[in-house]
Amino acid sequence: MAFELPSLPYAQDALEPHYSANTLSFHHGKHHQAYVTKLNELTEGTDDAKKSLEEIIKSSSGGLFNQAAQVWNHTFFWNSMKPGGGGAPSGALAEAIDKAFGSFDKFKEEFKAKGVGQFGSGWVWLVKEGGDLKIVTTANAETPITNGQTAILTCDVWEHAYYLDYQNRRPDFLQSFLDNLANWDFAAANFDAA
Ligand code: FE2
Repeated sequence: MAFELPSLPYAQDALEPHYSANTLSFHHGKHHQAYVTKLNELTEGTDDAKKSLEEIIKSSSGGLFNQAAQVWNHTFFWNSMKPGGGGAPSGALAEAIDKAFGSFDKFKEEFKAKGVGQFGSGWVWLVKEGGDLKIVTTANAETPITNGQTAILTCDVWEHAYYLDYQNRRPDFLQSFLDNLANWDFAAANFDAA
């Protein structure tokens, strides 16, 4: 069965004014769709067509890895945002963030700085590795699930993720992601399951 583009977990205009329907129409409807389409072209008629997305990511390299990982990364990113997001985590995740980074404000500073500092295209992630929380960046399609890390939350820092709304102002996009969009319920569920 072919891979399919997952629906957004909210309406296309639900993240406005922080992330526009126009951006989502391109980013989800064109970019994410293109990764799904190319993944299907590369796997059609091969044994990979019977594998799960995660299995392909963990067993492939080159073009196939890039398409599969970008499909996974984008689905994770849509879920990392929600209408009325931002705010702060609670419970065990909040305690773990305080322990790892000193405070939630320090976490936000580091997440933003690492996202700004990722040269070129990539992703900034909050991950859990060996029981510890870390902020890591990955280049292009690279994904923490091949690095023995559990993804907790991510922000896409490819230029296509923010250019229509923020032009070249990646720091402003990351600040808005943290202040208005981050889905801490999703992050807490990932943290609790890890
Ligand atoms: Fe993207």
